[in-house]
Amino acid sequence: MEKKIEKVLILGAGTMGLQIGLQCAAWGFEVTFYDAFEKALEQAKKRVNKLADSLAGHRRVSPEQAAAAKGRIRFSSDPESAGKDADLINESVPEDPKIKQAVFAQFNEICPDYTIFTTNSSTLVPSMIAGATGRPDRFAALHFHDLLLTNVVDIMPHPGTSQQTLAAIREFCKAIDQFPIELKKEQHGYVFNTMLSELMGSALTLAAKEVASVEDIDRAWMGIMKTAVGPFGIMDSVGLETVYKISDYWAGVKNDPQAKANAAFLKERVDKGNLGVKTGKGFYRYPEASFLSPDFLKGIR
Ligand SMILES: NC(=O)c1ccc[n+]([C@@H]2O[C@H](COP(=O)([O-])OP(=O)(O)OC[C@H]3O[C@@H](n4cnc5c(N)ncnc54)[C@H](O)[C@@H]3O)[C@@H](O)[C@H]2O)c1
Repeated sequence: MEKKIEKVLILGAGTMGLQIGLQCAAWGFEVTFYDAFEKALEQAKKRVNKLADSLAGHRRVSPEQAAAAKGRIRFSSDPESAGKDADLINESVPEDPKIKQAVFAQFNEICPDYTIFTTNSSTLVPSMIAGATGRPDRFAALHFHDLLLTNVVDIMPHPGTSQQTLAAIREFCKAIDQFPIELKKEQHGYVFNTMLSELMGSALTLAAKEVASVEDIDRAWMGIMKTAVGPFGIMDSVGLETVYKISDYWAGVKNDPQAKANAAFLKERVDKGNLGVKTGKGFYRYPEASFLSPDFLKGIR
């Protein structure tokens, strides 16, 4: 018999941890934010009210839920008090397997046997961490996207995750108004990022080979798929430095000449400091990027 999930412990009170914890608190869970750094907790305390209002502003929760959430959270830098009665942990510490392994091993010593452990890692797979949790059967990835934008989450078990744990995580997703995409096996990048990286890679190949202009490649995608943004607009908002780093890494791993040419195509912009939306220029100029204007798709129905 599974313990009813009432108390949620968020490990790491940074960008994602805060969003996830607030979503849980808005749906009635008691939430503790644990962070190893006092300074991070101080910053989190300053940001949390505004973020709760933002969740309501984006209509992800109601204003009443956002107000109630503020009363259901607490912050702690004491692992013992944070972990001793947690029912479910979601971990959002930095994307480094060694840090994640150490943090789960630490909380395995503190938490009750029934506590379910989940990681919000973007790129690692749970079998890289499962051994360190000391409770591999009660461990899986529960990965959130930007909660201001979407309620799609990924549940990704590793081969040792128990069916009971998976069922409890599924129920938990429903209880916090998230829509789970369930992976049947481990996959770096889960479902969405796997598809997105292929889309960005194909768009880069077309542009780097000068098959079509950046604008026309985006027009093809936006005009046919009826989306507000195309692959190059997406790259600008992710940040060209990040897209470059990922492209360059995988081009090296796969030793693929076209992927290397695509990385070089990105590097030309990165070297000039054109990193996308955050620097005001990437493939487009911001804030008034041409693809945002109705004229961009003029004539396409
Ligand atoms: N930022 C995103 O868009 C996004 C989206 C989905 C998933 N993720 C994943 O979420 C995780 C966190 O990303 P983020 O962007 O929130 O990072 P962040 O840097 O904003 O937050 C990390 C927090 O962890 C704390 N921390 C560091 N070491 C710790 C330790 N040993 N114990 C406890 N706390 C510790 C830091 O003080 C910081 O507050 C990563 O695994 C990332 O891949 C990020």
